[in-house]
Amino acid sequence: MEGLKHIPVMLNEAVNVLSVMPGRVYVDGTIGGGGFSEEILRRSSPGGFLIGIDRDADAVKNVQIELEKEFDRKRFKLFYSNFSKIDEIVKESGFKNVDGIILDLGISRIQLEGNRGFSFKEEGGLDMRMDKGDGLTAYDVVNRYPEKILADIIWRFGDERHSRKIARKIVESRKNKRIETPIELSKVIKKAIFKGSGKLRIDPATKTFMALRIFINKEYDSLIEFLGKLKDVLNIGGVIAILSFHSGEDRIVKNFFKNNPDFKSLSKKPILPEGEEVRFNPRSRSAKLRAFCHV
Ligand SMILES: C[S@@+](CC[C@H](N)C(=O)[O-])C[C@H]1O[C@@H](n2cnc3c(N)ncnc32)[C@H](O)[C@@H]1O
Repeated sequence: MEGLKHIPVMLNEAVNVLSVMPGRVYVDGTIGGGGFSEEILRRSSPGGFLIGIDRDADAVKNVQIELEKEFDRKRFKLFYSNFSKIDEIVKESGFKNVDGIILDLGISRIQLEGNRGFSFKEEGGLDMRMDKGDGLTAYDVVNRYPEKILADIIWRFGDERHSRKIARKIVESRKNKRIETPIELSKVIKKAIFKGSGKLRIDPATKTFMALRIFINKEYDSLIEFLGKLKDVLNIGGVIAILSFHSGEDRIVKNFFKNNPDFKSLSKKPILPEGEEVRFNPRSRSAKLRAFCHV
């Protein structure tokens, strides 16, 4: 969306932990608005190379234009792809291994506010695909899936304790009229679980929207596949840094590296954003950064 910028979360912490050095090769597996990619290119100059990946074609197109304004085109190559294909992408870029990899999981502000169905506050289609060319939309899932499967998705990926009530209400509501927009869906969810009294800490639709997004984009599958390939693409001494935004994806990361003899954690606890950043950028509130060195 023209004019909308993503504000990178924990930019300094994330790029610092990679210890970016001139002449080395780095992967930004989630280029989004290009904030991390730019910083890596700056710090790896002269001679450093960046491989950028995003499954959103618009993100790749826009970041290509932005990076070309500041950096030599020979210093980076961007791929419209899934970071789960990291092995093929590194090879196609002409390298055997890389010196650092960063993942900033989830969606960008450009996607969230781009009328693509991610935000429960917007009109527009119920899409929610990061890659507009791939797979089912939220419309398909919400209007066609059986109640039991819907409830399981909302429970498993959203940790939503009212999952059954929400699924029941969705099925009841779509019998009269298909659920076409995020606003319509969020009204159905609210009717299912909000009794109209008490103060809400988060919008009642938050967890269901997150669950649908994770399911539709097969986010956990991509992360697990990526982690399985990591030690073959990251040089010994190289660093992997992963920024996650909710407990489900953080659990996958934490469990993969726990007692893993190939990787050493670079901090005892996950690195969290500073108070100032949390005040200035609310999206950073739930961020957790974990970093590991390939040993
Ligand atoms: C939070 S944003 C990244 C923001 C970026 N660090 C910046 O500074 O602008 C996440 C991006 O990752 C992309 N993404 C999420 N999962 C992906 C995957 N499995 N493969 C490739 N890209 C993915 C999304 O399309 C989105 O553009």
